[in-house]
Amino acid sequence: METRKVVLLCGSPRLEGNTAQVLAECAKVIEREGLEAETVLLAEKHILSCTACGLCTGGECALDDDLNEIIDTIREADGFIVGTPVYFGTARGDVTAALQRIGMVSMASDSFLSRKVGGPIVVARRGGHTATLQELLMFFLINDMIVPGSTYWNMVFGWAPGEALNDEEGMRTIRRFAENVAFLIKKLH
Ligand SMILES: Cc1cc2nc3c(=O)[nH]c(=O)nc-3n(C[C@H](O)[C@H](O)[C@H](O)COP(=O)(O)O)c2cc1C
Repeated sequence: METRKVVLLCGSPRLEGNTAQVLAECAKVIEREGLEAETVLLAEKHILSCTACGLCTGGECALDDDLNEIIDTIREADGFIVGTPVYFGTARGDVTAALQRIGMVSMASDSFLSRKVGGPIVVARRGGHTATLQELLMFFLINDMIVPGSTYWNMVFGWAPGEALNDEEGMRTIRRFAENVAFLIKKLH
C-alpha cells in the first residue's frame, strides 16, 4: 500500500525556533501514525509576493524563486499543515506571501489543494494567536481543503526557542491535531 504523505510548512526564519520544534513534534506523531512527514523550512527559501500577473494557469507560478518546488512537494501530498510565528498579531509575511501564491496557482490550474487534509498552527509569546489562526483558515477553507479540529485551537505559547515545548496544553492540542490529520487521511484513502 502506498505511504500517504503530509507536508509541514514551517514559516519561521529561526531554523530551530519554536515553530520548527512544534512542527517537529507534529511530524513525529504523523510518522508514528504510519504516514510520511516532510517539513519545508521557509527560512531556507526565497519567496516573493504575488504580483497578480495571472500567468499561473499552467500549474506553476511565473515568478522566479523557490515557490514552485514547494508547490511540487505539496501537490504530491495528501496533507498540508502550515506553522507560523505570530508577528504583530498576524502571520509572518513570507507565510502569507507563499500561501497566497500557492492558493492562486491551485485555483487557476488543477485545484491540487482540493480535499487535502490539514490546517494552521500558530506560535506566539503572548497574543494574536486566534486572529492568526482565523486568518490562515481563510486559505484552507477557500481552497476546498478538509480541516480537522483538536481539543483546543492549534496555538502554542513561547518566546525564546524551546519555550513552546513547555506549553503542555498547547503541545497536547498539536499532538491531537496531528493524530486527527493522520486519522482522516487514512479514512479517506
Ligand atoms: C517581528 C516580531 C513580531 C512579533 N509579534 C508578536 C505578537 O504580535 N504577539 C506575540 O505574542 N509574540 C510576537 N512575537 C514573538 C514571537 O511570536 C515568538 O517569539 C515566537 O515564539 C517566535 O517563533 P519562532 O521561534 O518559531 O520564530 C513577535 C516576534 C517578532 C520577531
